[in-house]
Amino acid sequence: MVFEPSPFLQPGERTKPGELAIVSLARDDFDAIRLEKSSGAVDGYAEGATLNTRFGSFPHSTLLDIPWGSQVRASAVDTGSRGRKRRLETTDDDTPAVSQDEGSKALVKKATVASSGFIYVLRPSPELWTSSLPHRTQVVYTPDYSYILQRIRARPGTRILEAGAGSGSFSHASARAVYNGYPTDETDTKGKVFSFEFNEDRFHKMKEEIESHALTGIVQIQHRDVYRDGFMVDGKSPNATAVFLDLPAPWKALQHLSRRSGSSPLDPKQSVHICTFSPCIEQVSRTVTELRTLGWTDVDMVEISQRRLNILRERVGVNLPNERGVSQTPADVLEAVTKLRKVNQQNKQFQQAQSGQQSKSATADSTGTDSPAAASEAAAVDDDHDKPWMQGRLTHRSEPDLKTHTSYLVFAVLPPEWSEEDEAKALAKWPCGEESKIIGNLDKESRKQEKRELLASRSKKRKAKGEPARAQTKKQKANDDTQAESEDTPAAR
Ligand SMILES: C[S@@+](CC[C@H](N)C(=O)[O-])C[C@H]1O[C@@H](n2cnc3c(N)ncnc32)[C@H](O)[C@@H]1O
Repeated sequence: MVFEPSPFLQPGERTKPGELAIVSLARDDFDAIRLEKSSGAVDGYAEGATLNTRFGSFPHSTLLDIPWGSQVRASAVDTGSRGRKRRLETTDDDTPAVSQDEGSKALVKKATVASSGFIYVLRPSPELWTSSLPHRTQVVYTPDYSYILQRIRARPGTRILEAGAGSGSFSHASARAVYNGYPTDETDTKGKVFSFEFNEDRFHKMKEEIESHALTGIVQIQHRDVYRDGFMVDGKSPNATAVFLDLPAPWKALQHLSRRSGSSPLDPKQSVHICTFSPCIEQVSRTVTELRTLGWTDVDMVEISQRRLNILRERVGVNLPNERGVSQTPADVLEAVTKLRKVNQQNKQFQQAQSGQQSKSATADSTGTDSPAAASEAAAVDDDHDKPWMQGRLTHRSEPDLKTHTSYLVFAVLPPEWSEEDEAKALAKWPCGEESKIIGNLDKESRKQEKRELLASRSKKRKAKGEPARAQTKKQKANDDTQAESEDTPAAR
């Protein structure tokens, strides 16, 4: 079995033809594209396959063989045959339009840089795929799946059951979490995601996607109604230790996730961690009841709420111009007091003028902006005049919440079944019911004496072996006595 490396797991250093790439157009605006190497005009573009965005046109030739993360400038593209085709179609019905095949016979034209804009070419990651994937259903977003994956102990080598697959957002994230290499043959039990989808169209779409992302050895998708038919794979147990259910009625699938039935998809030797993802509390309630009935423990529920902070600079001061990034409030107490004094002064002058007793003290103060705080702010503004991004104080505002499908996450753990063999082993190690004496039957003084004798016999043994005697400081002796006493406490017993 040989698998080609997935761009999500081993993307290499540079972009290659035929590979998936995520282009970043703006913050939180991503497009997934497959990079094409053209040998002639494509779709009327003389430069070959071209990505058109609101920031300009980007022939794929400019996106190929560059390091992941590169910034690429838009190109001035030649839409010659494309424009001609349109003109011909609209003006002359008798003349055949230039076909795409005809256009593609021409050699590919070299792209020239345009002034319109730029994009970044990013290597695919589950997070970027979640932001750019074609939505066929509601999806699990990054804040949720990063928490879920650590709670269900997904790590390289883990075998996860996932239902339903939906749009594959969680499948891609879990594939990366469990990846510890591609399996070499059918019996190789590497980390794997066993994904189940009931809807036939979504199943086929998901299968295509897994193949085109080279995740076939890591994600195995099955077309299945898991409520009815459970989670066995090709009649065998996938030996899963982690389960994620994003289903409308997760409680209906839980009967198949038990070790009590003859054939279980769970690892018989290890604890299994589960997460169910439900938008309504009624669904949570039914799931929790069923989990408890089936012997799951440590049941708890979490809702993820993520907040993103926008850090920016803001200029603060009463005398600053009213423009963007400026808050016209006093920058400090001194400026506030200066402003108050000025207002009081103006009021006083106004009243004096009204009563005909104009004061001689009506000075330039009334119009000036020469308070110490204002002066220092003005100086600061001047200093940083040529660095507008450095002006003002650092401040932050919370941004609108990140896109997340708000759901309740229910977690639980299913311990391994306790077999008769385990019971016998435990009994051999800790012989229960065969104690030679009952702790608590001795009085306190006798127990202390017993402990002293024990410590003395240990020290004797040490001496016999030729080990140096443990010099007992006063402190150690006190510790030993305390230990002897603490072992007598009711809690210790
Ligand atoms: C919300 S979507 C899952 C989204 C997915 N977790 C993601 O991150 O893209 C739920 C999916 O469960 C599937 N589904 C519903 N009932 C099912 C069942 N009984 N067995 C398998 N899949 C089922 C639906 O067809 C749907 O595609």
